[in-house]
Amino acid sequence: MTPLWIDTDMGFDDMLAIMMIRQSGRAIAGCSLVFGNSTFDRIHANAAGMAALWSWDFAIHNGAARPISGALVTARNILGPSGLPTLGQVLPEAPPLPDRSQATTALAHWLETAPAAVDILALGPITNLGMLLQSRPDLSSRINCITWMGGSATTGNHTAAAEFNAFADPEAAAIVFASSVPVRMVDLDLCRQVTMAPPDLDELRGLNTEKAQLLHDLLGGFITISISKGRPSQPIFDPVAAASIVDSDAVGFEPATVCIDTSDGPMRGQTDVNRCSGGPHRVGTVADAERIRRMAMDAMKAAADL
Ligand code: RIB
Ligand code: CA
Repeated sequence: MTPLWIDTDMGFDDMLAIMMIRQSGRAIAGCSLVFGNSTFDRIHANAAGMAALWSWDFAIHNGAARPISGALVTARNILGPSGLPTLGQVLPEAPPLPDRSQATTALAHWLETAPAAVDILALGPITNLGMLLQSRPDLSSRINCITWMGGSATTGNHTAAAEFNAFADPEAAAIVFASSVPVRMVDLDLCRQVTMAPPDLDELRGLNTEKAQLLHDLLGGFITISISKGRPSQPIFDPVAAASIVDSDAVGFEPATVCIDTSDGPMRGQTDVNRCSGGPHRVGTVADAERIRRMAMDAMKAAADL
């Protein structure tokens, strides 16, 4: 299995997705950061804190702090300044990450030198990937597949029409969809099938380690986003995309053609999904919710013991 590249806006669900990849044993070739769940400086601080706490040994590269065009949008209004809501404990601060090459430079180098076409897991606005494919379209043949948590075949979560990662940089998504790279879209409708609720906290509460307490509080803060709005449970988003890579039975995909609205109107960021045989993309259809939830819990329990 070739190593995987992860492009992320390092919120709680991104961290959980990375834990699942690590738990599966799949090597992580590198990681690039992008604005999204919070502003870029905070995303960098989150990545530094997580890398230190969980002893992540893969290189992490700074990427885009703004979308390709249009205004900067983050999820701070929902998640708070850190992008990591909590019931109590917060991620410990850590020194800044080593100053490595920029995300697009690092990605280009990795694609040029990998022995075979490679896979990318994208968990935030896809600005880094859009910029890469815009400046180096020749590298598209080096990418086997981009699996992206983003978009929605029906309604959005950031606006009525658009999912957050799609809304935050539709121009980047348009470049990626128009490229020849096969894209698997793990969209909001798929992610809405896989949720966690307050009873899921019990498994972590029983573990009695400092890391378990931190994970408990961060998962609790994440779940509270929905509970505070009167909903019974919270979709876990990025772990669904990770699960589709780790376990091919976890998620079903159908061929489709996907376009994204880049207008400045109310439909900005809406993904138009046309399910059709022979379409260049794949869109998730059905998730094995219990299987994915179990994988996510097991990854957290393993990380709580590290
Ligand atoms: O809409 C959910 C997505 O937005 C997730 O990837 C979350 O981490 C944020 O990036
Ligand atoms: Ca994310």
